[in-house]
Amino acid sequence: MRIEDDAPSQSPQNLRLPLFGDCLIVNQDFQEQFENYRVNKSIAPLLLLGDVLEVMKELPSDSFDCCMTSPPYWGKREYDAGGIGWEPDFKTYVDNLCSVFSEVHRVLKKTGSFWLNIGDSYYHKNLLGLPWRIALNLTDNQGWILRNSVIWNKVKGGPDHSKDRLRNIHENLFHFVKSPKYYYDIDSIRSSPRKTKVVNGSVVSATGVTGIRYKRKIELSTDLSENEKRNAYQALEEILRQVSDGIISDFRMIIRGQQRTTHSDSEKVSGRPKNSKKKDFTF
Ligand SMILES: C[S@@+](CC[C@H](N)C(=O)[O-])C[C@H]1O[C@@H](n2cnc3c(N)ncnc32)[C@H](O)[C@@H]1O
Repeated sequence: MRIEDDAPSQSPQNLRLPLFGDCLIVNQDFQEQFENYRVNKSIAPLLLLGDVLEVMKELPSDSFDCCMTSPPYWGKREYDAGGIGWEPDFKTYVDNLCSVFSEVHRVLKKTGSFWLNIGDSYYHKNLLGLPWRIALNLTDNQGWILRNSVIWNKVKGGPDHSKDRLRNIHENLFHFVKSPKYYYDIDSIRSSPRKTKVVNGSVVSATGVTGIRYKRKIELSTDLSENEKRNAYQALEEILRQVSDGIISDFRMIIRGQQRTTHSDSEKVSGRPKNSKKKDFTF
């Protein structure tokens, strides 16, 4: 973090920040301040103010659980205190960021996670692919394990006056770890699955399947005999009952001769043609 205009001349000082409440802010003796903070019971944030590389060099290895950062774009915004983002060429920008992330690797615990939000830039009309250049540099040269590239869909995005290309309205949020076994609490971030509902008297599954379309397909089938059609209707009714009773939340029905091919009709490459050729229908 770099807030030099507001930087206290003497370390440490107390600061009240809108999002964090009371914080301790220090701009020197980082090692000592960090060690004091570690044994202190307070959970108020400690803000270390200075050049990121200089600050991190003073911090002990294997001591942080998580790092989340959103570094400056390359060549887009000038921050008051300068810093990363104004390198004359993008390769130096990538190198500078990677030097910082190598320190992140050192200070992070084996169980820790590193979340990197990073946006792309153009140079002479060419989209540079900076997020992936950086991500691959980290996996190839620093031993990071990349677990996810989450797309931050910015919905509206910032102003873009270009008349000869689409706007870019996403950024990557990379999740890196140091070792295959790391702390991850999946249950705390699960969203509840979509539920079945009844719309105008019809059961609608979690993904919007109603059964009406399948009934029509059975009716129009030129492949199924009348007897096979009766069985298919009955089985469909039974599945719809299970959806309505909450036993299952979703289904798909594959009817022989009625299925659009997804990639090929060849039985070698697709399980679906093989399945639907054999059976009258499957769920
Ligand atoms: C995109 S902003 C993100 C700020 C912060 N994460 C937030 O959400 O408010 C990037 C920040 O990195 C800071 N910065 C750039 N180079 C730096 C350096 N060498 N050391 C520390 N901070 C730096 C800039 O001043 C700017 O505040």
